Amino acid sequence: MKEQVLALLTAQAGEYLSGEAMSERLGVSRAAVWKAIEALREDGCEIGSAPRRGYRLLSSADRLTAGSILPYIRSETQRRKLICLDSVDSTNNYAKKLAMTGVEDSTAIAADEQTGGRGRLGRTFLSPKGKGIYLTLLYRPAIPPAAAVNLTAYVAVAVCDGIEAVTGIRPGIKWTNDIVLGCRKLCGILTEMAVEGETGALQYIITGIGINVNHMPEDFPPEVRGIATSLTQALGHPVERGRLCAEVINALEDMYAAWLRGGGDYWERYRDGCLTLGKPVRLLRGDRAEEAFAEALDRTP
Ligand code: BTN
Repeated sequence: MKEQVLALLTAQAGEYLSGEAMSERLGVSRAAVWKAIEALREDGCEIGSAPRRGYRLLSSADRLTAGSILPYIRSETQRRKLICLDSVDSTNNYAKKLAMTGVEDSTAIAADEQTGGRGRLGRTFLSPKGKGIYLTLLYRPAIPPAAAVNLTAYVAVAVCDGIEAVTGIRPGIKWTNDIVLGCRKLCGILTEMAVEGETGALQYIITGIGINVNHMPEDFPPEVRGIATSLTQALGHPVERGRLCAEVINALEDMYAAWLRGGGDYWERYRDGCLTLGKPVRLLRGDRAEEAFAEALDRTP
């Protein structure tokens, strides 16, 4: 209900809309509309009201807070392992520091903003406040490092599951782990791990997920505007980030349990969702590029 009321107010572009009009359009009582308005205000939306005119949206800057995520996290165990930050340089950096303190397996770190978000290959990942989901999961599985290679592919499947649960949209996966809508990037994943030099033992895996949620085209720098998209651009209305973040965490919890048991059907689901298969590709080896064709995916053990 909250999302529908927010969508109606957003469509008004700052103009008033009466509670009666909203209740008619949504087929619910005036009291339900009023409750949704109160819930949106609690989430941090600024909504003005005036007698006989109704409500208008002053700012929809919903904040990603523990309060907005926790109600949707399914398991009590995972609820205890959520850290939510207002602003941080990078949730992956934060997770690395935390890993030194012996924090629990599957700890989730979410942030409303990153000031130094990192992407693959040393790139930056722009992470404006109030727009996206910047989330890192810290894993400490008791496995050899070589056994960890599939995890990032399975994470991509779980992120698609979380997005689909909230929006009904199933994104595609561009090998290895970019999540896309059409040809545009919706989400990037950066997985890093640490191995102890002396013993070769895996110390931790951190997997960082950056989802473009409520970004408008002008929120992207000009050079990526044509190749990036967001859920709000695809749906035409804002998405509740707390709920989406929670559903991604729920999906990751299922995925991790399956992965520890041998993988379940995640490999097949990765292959089915991978848009790169059956297409010409460019293989980049250092500074050399080679034209190739993606025929099949080898499953790493
Ligand atoms: C890429 O597309 O190159 C990967 C982007 C990964 C971005 C996420 S946002 C959360 C986590 N923290 C970071 O600094 N990076 C990852």
